[in-house]
Amino acid sequence: MFRLTGDVELRPWRQDDAQTLVDASLDPDVQQWNRPGSDVSLEDARAKIASWHERWTSEQAAIWAIARLGERPMGLIGWADMDLKGGSAEILYWLLPAGRGGGLMADAAVRLSRWAIDDLGLHRLRLTHSVANPASCRVATKAGFALEGTMRSALLHADGWHDEHLHARIRGDKWLGE
Ligand SMILES: CC(C)(COP(=O)(O)OP(=O)(O)OC[C@H]1O[C@@H](n2cnc3c(N)ncnc32)[C@H](O)[C@@H]1OP(=O)(O)O)[C@@H](O)C(=O)NCCC(=O)NCCS
Repeated sequence: MFRLTGDVELRPWRQDDAQTLVDASLDPDVQQWNRPGSDVSLEDARAKIASWHERWTSEQAAIWAIARLGERPMGLIGWADMDLKGGSAEILYWLLPAGRGGGLMADAAVRLSRWAIDDLGLHRLRLTHSVANPASCRVATKAGFALEGTMRSALLHADGWHDEHLHARIRGDKWLGE
């Protein structure tokens, strides 16, 4: 569990948070950029949450809910493709519309990056996003993930293949304000 500014925390997903995943799958921006799939049912969402717990236990992923204390989640952030031996992972995130516009995700990404580097001992953290998603690019830059290049035609979105920016933060990179 991590506390961000105000009463926002990063906490594990619970089975009774499943409706938030259904809501997220219906949000046009999450649909476009995070590609959760269509027709996500409550049952699918519960299975997804169960799979995140399994992947936590097997040290493959660490997916957190972003929520105000005692409230339903308003977003997700976490590490996928975690390779503890190889020292790397890739960050994923989204916010529902009510959580956007306040710079929350850059703070959350910094907090989870500190945890990944200082506590998990990872060396290289990746962040990728479509070049057509400037909000995500700004989150990456603010959170200290340097732009390393553009991967051509890297991910299939609903409207076709998108070029993707590759950003990364390496152990030893400066933190905000240093
Ligand atoms: C990306 C996302 C997590 C950012 O949420 P957030 O933390 O609330 O971000 P903010 O709205 O505070 O914006 C962050 C920065 O991006 C800038 N930004 C936002 N929209 C922008 C746009 N369309 N063009 C350029 N800059 C933009 C903001 O001005 C802000 O920069 P600043 O801090 O220098 O002023 C959220 O918009 C989201 O979930 N979007 C839909 C799904 C998504 O994009 N997922 C990411 C997949 S890689």
